[in-house]
Amino acid sequence: MSELVRFSVSLEADLLAAFDKFVEEGRFATRSEAIRQLLRKSLTTDAWEVDAQELTATLTLVYDHHKTGLVEKLLELQHRHAEKVTATLHVHLDHDHCLEVIVLKGQGSKLQQLASELRGLKGVHQGDLTVAGVSPHEAEHHDHHGHDDHGHTH
Ligand code: NI
Repeated sequence: MSELVRFSVSLEADLLAAFDKFVEEGRFATRSEAIRQLLRKSLTTDAWEVDAQELTATLTLVYDHHKTGLVEKLLELQHRHAEKVTATLHVHLDHDHCLEVIVLKGQGSKLQQLASELRGLKGVHQGDLTVAGVSPHEAEHHDHHGHDDHGHTH
């Protein structure tokens, strides 16, 4: 494990209050531990950078379907990358918003690229890319301490 470094962060009081609630409800030992996990989740470079293997991931988008040209662009992009798009689920959230869950399969960096293009479109409010099928233990190259006891059946 590398050296611990302290740094300070400025944020709005209500955001901090929400974060503290998150820390409490998530039963994190400390704020630091919660931040570490959030950062790792956001920067899942280990999982993504192991580029030789094929990953399955979900991209969850929330977007405003009234935004001019957005629906067409989303479709166009998905068709252009049809070999990576395994399935989509579409839910009409409310009058303005659609939720779309896109299951992607392919090389990690390619999936990240496609996800960035999709969530970068104007009118997309949220775009969360989550790796499925890579265990966090396998993804972490450090801090191994015997993970042999978590076998399970389906
Ligand atoms: Ni819709």
